[in-house]
Amino acid sequence: SSDPLIIFTPSGKRGRFPAGTPVLTAARQLGVDLDSVCGGRGICSKCQITPGYGEFSKHGVTVHDDALSEWNAVEQRYDDKRGLKPGRRLGCQATIQRDVVIDVPAESQVHKQVVRKRVEARDILVNPTIRLYYVEVEEPDMHEPSGDLERLCAALHEQWEVENAQADLHLLQTMQPILRKGDWKVTCAVDHGRDGDAPRIMHLWPGLYEDTIYGLAIDLGSTTIAAHLCDMRSGEVIASSGVMNPQIRFGEDLMSRVSYSMMNKGGSDEMTAAVREGMNTLFDVVAAEAGIDKGLIMDAVFVCNPVMHHLFLGVDPFELGQAPFALAASRALHLRARELDLKLHPSARVYLLPCIAGHVGADAAAVALSEAPDKSEDLVLVVDVGTNAEIMLGNKERVLACSSPTGPAFEGAQISAGQRAAPGAIERVEIDPVTKEPRFRVIGSDLWSDDPGFAEATAATGITGICGSGIIEAIAEMRLAGVLDASGLIGSAEQTGTDRCILDGRTNSYLLYDASAKGGPRITVTNPDIRAIQMAKAALYSGARLLMDKFGVDKVDRVVLAGAFGAHISPKHAMVLGMIPDAPLEKVTSAGNAAGTGARIALLNREARGEIEATVHRIHKVETAVEPRFQEHFVNASAIPNAVEPFPILNT
Ligand code: FES
Repeated sequence: SSDPLIIFTPSGKRGRFPAGTPVLTAARQLGVDLDSVCGGRGICSKCQITPGYGEFSKHGVTVHDDALSEWNAVEQRYDDKRGLKPGRRLGCQATIQRDVVIDVPAESQVHKQVVRKRVEARDILVNPTIRLYYVEVEEPDMHEPSGDLERLCAALHEQWEVENAQADLHLLQTMQPILRKGDWKVTCAVDHGRDGDAPRIMHLWPGLYEDTIYGLAIDLGSTTIAAHLCDMRSGEVIASSGVMNPQIRFGEDLMSRVSYSMMNKGGSDEMTAAVREGMNTLFDVVAAEAGIDKGLIMDAVFVCNPVMHHLFLGVDPFELGQAPFALAASRALHLRARELDLKLHPSARVYLLPCIAGHVGADAAAVALSEAPDKSEDLVLVVDVGTNAEIMLGNKERVLACSSPTGPAFEGAQISAGQRAAPGAIERVEIDPVTKEPRFRVIGSDLWSDDPGFAEATAATGITGICGSGIIEAIAEMRLAGVLDASGLIGSAEQTGTDRCILDGRTNSYLLYDASAKGGPRITVTNPDIRAIQMAKAALYSGARLLMDKFGVDKVDRVVLAGAFGAHISPKHAMVLGMIPDAPLEKVTSAGNAAGTGARIALLNREARGEIEATVHRIHKVETAVEPRFQEHFVNASAIPNAVEPFPILNT
């Protein structure tokens, strides 16, 4: 009769193999994703499987408990020493005897799926550039002289088909004692680099290294630097943290940093040193939070705007300060952490995503990787809201992108009671259109300010200020309640009929919260606050509008709000303000930190790097600074919601 049939789940891959074929061998031949670090020697246990025994016929599955071979000595020894979970077998030892269904549990898959929380987001396939291999190396022989490295490379070739491996200098410096300590059995970390690159051995451990290695996904923003520490085997984020970008002391926004470097000799170098130092501090924080050795961080992916990109690399951003805004390099860069003074593994890799062009940088590329406007059937507008807004408009046919200088107002800066989004900050606001009385919620509590128990619930944090999403809602609600006119001016107490509108000196303000009688804060929204938000939202809107002009459309099918702040913004209030173009509210979604997610995808998946490197060539950059219509749109967009554009959705 024919050979036994083997079916793998969850992949559904199947094939017939002669009785006696190890399950791992069958898996490899069928392209089933089954892990192995020791190469089938029965010591790593990464190849664990769960057999469901059976024979297939039109009557269904008949159970046979002899469908796999009995335990051999190797599997028995592993179980005695380390213990296999009930029902589990080692795929490299168990051989196929009769028809069988084999389940590959998630932890035994090499290319694990990291499930993202959002429904519309694609999962991340874990397939990093750096992989671990266990090898047994031939001992040196005086009569057949060859170097230790040559025998190590030969073992990688013979045992893992890793061809033509090269070694980092750091590896040569440390290799010999490790080979001897491991009794010629070692685990290698090999960087596969780009297609066509020779694989490079980065690190050796004596014997079987059973632990994992780590990577960092870093979103280097003008205001904050955020890092996610990932386990490179499971793909999970095990710690995240952020610090202020220490370059803030040289200027709050990008252009002031470019001018700092132009006006001060050595200014660019000072900023380079500051940002690298900030990063090393951040790496200490995330490594401590996860309780790991920083030396095990072997790969890092960075996304940032072009000015940050140049300053991080140590390239003077001078050319970015003037047309034609030539980048030093727009391609993706493969560097070493050491060259950038980053204290990670001694030969840790650094990958910078490609820039698109001009002021549209690697952060926009990362958003494109995460949100894939180039794969969208319908016309999608993606806005990544930060100190600089990255804006993309497109679909499968074409994608346009621009960058717009919104300034830091959306992050709570330049706002009189503004603060970062942290416990105690007002994040939601409602104003009664009749009484003009406000109610609000603060970060850290689910209660509204007029709910019973609110005072107790917020006692620990207090009410400290107003964050970006709070100020957006406050201003939009003021407009809806009629205490603010379309030009952004707050009415007087007589005009509005509420003594919450206060004339202080020359400008009016609206009183949101007052605990000053008890020595607490007094939180108002002032005309200059509104002005700052008007400028920021006008920059955002006119960038989006400019792309719509170029695309030849006057509406979009859907809007994705990205950025740490974008995730919290209420679509309705954003539209009332005229921050984003009119679109059905249910078609406005938030993507969270899409740039950070893009960095994580590029860290965990080698193919994704090639994918975004190809995609950036298909994204057409629009330079807002030289577009006359940008100014015109900007002026119109300063009104709330807009001086000329209708917002029909708001009237339904
Ligand atoms: Fe390592 Fe099976 S492959 S134990």
